[in-house]
Amino acid sequence: MRNVEIALDGESLITPESIAAEVASPANSQLDEAELALARTELALVLAISLQQFEQQVDPAQIIARTAMALHDIRIKTSPLVWQALIPIAQNHPVSRYFQQDPFTRWSFEKPRGYSGDAQLLDFIYGHPSVAGEIAASTPLGLALYDYTKNASSSVAVRERRDILTQHVDEIAGSRGPQAEILTIAAGHLREANRSKALAEGRLKRWVALDQDPLSVGSIAQDFAGTCIEPIEGSVKDIFTGKHQLGTFDFVYASGLYDYLNDKVSIKLTRKCMEMLKPNGVFLFANFAEDIVVDGYMETFMNWALLLRTEADMWRIIKGSTQEGQVEAQVRFGANRNIVYGIIRKLG
Ligand SMILES: C[S@@+](CC[C@H](N)C(=O)[O-])C[C@H]1O[C@@H](n2cnc3c(N)ncnc32)[C@H](O)[C@@H]1O
Repeated sequence: MRNVEIALDGESLITPESIAAEVASPANSQLDEAELALARTELALVLAISLQQFEQQVDPAQIIARTAMALHDIRIKTSPLVWQALIPIAQNHPVSRYFQQDPFTRWSFEKPRGYSGDAQLLDFIYGHPSVAGEIAASTPLGLALYDYTKNASSSVAVRERRDILTQHVDEIAGSRGPQAEILTIAAGHLREANRSKALAEGRLKRWVALDQDPLSVGSIAQDFAGTCIEPIEGSVKDIFTGKHQLGTFDFVYASGLYDYLNDKVSIKLTRKCMEMLKPNGVFLFANFAEDIVVDGYMETFMNWALLLRTEADMWRIIKGSTQEGQVEAQVRFGANRNIVYGIIRKLG
């Protein structure tokens, strides 16, 4: 694994280490050696069975489902510091080389773009042709595991999230008419635009898509050349400093970003986004929810740590960034409760 720490915007470090520092700050707690010893034993048992099952060629779907559930159970009952100590143990276990045959798991673990949660990784979930080469080069075992990971509850929720975003863009275009202006923050490859009727029918004035990764911005520029989409290479920090003079919008949203931002930065960003809304404009932010069950597998074999949030966490961000009487807000879950959405309308 390339262990690169990139300060993407000077305020949000998108690395498993930075997320770990958020959830298990040594200043707040002390490692309980007895708890660690017990948890290590339990983990060793779980992984020994998985290894044996791979060697005995048990159905890979069964192995990964059992392992993921067992890791979740260990994660939820151990303290954050103990769990953080277990992660490298799992990653260095001989069973890891089996899970790494899944092209999605491997991409996440190796982080070819140097940070967690890049847009190419999401393409494994979307089943986009951009990952066809990686899939074609996979072993039969890798493909069987990918069949599980791409259909895991978190992946189902990410595909639903993409569709919810498309739906919002099309609804806004329907209600605002041809002057509708959209801003996507941390746009990735902007896959939600592929299915937008409003975009296809030329019913938007502009759709600004901002991302810090030049490769993702290049992909958007290529895929949506000749449309009203304006890709911009820029970071959350650029939004804070007003570097790009983006103007105002009817709909601003961020998906796959707040999962990496602590509360302080989330509140600051939400405030900024509210300022960029026209009267009656809508801001939406999505976050992986505490209800997710593949968290243990993601944090170990995928080395993909996220800040999971509850409904109350989402309200804390909304209340910390808006003034009562000036907005209408709601928090709601996607169908399988793996992703939670904060939606704020700025009253006109
Ligand atoms: C998980 S992807 C989400 C992509 C897309 N929004 C989606 O839902 O499929 C996260 C994206 O956030 C971008 N990103 C992360 N931190 C950022 C920052 N501080 N400023 C701008 N973009 C950022 C990454 O470059 C990456 O493309």
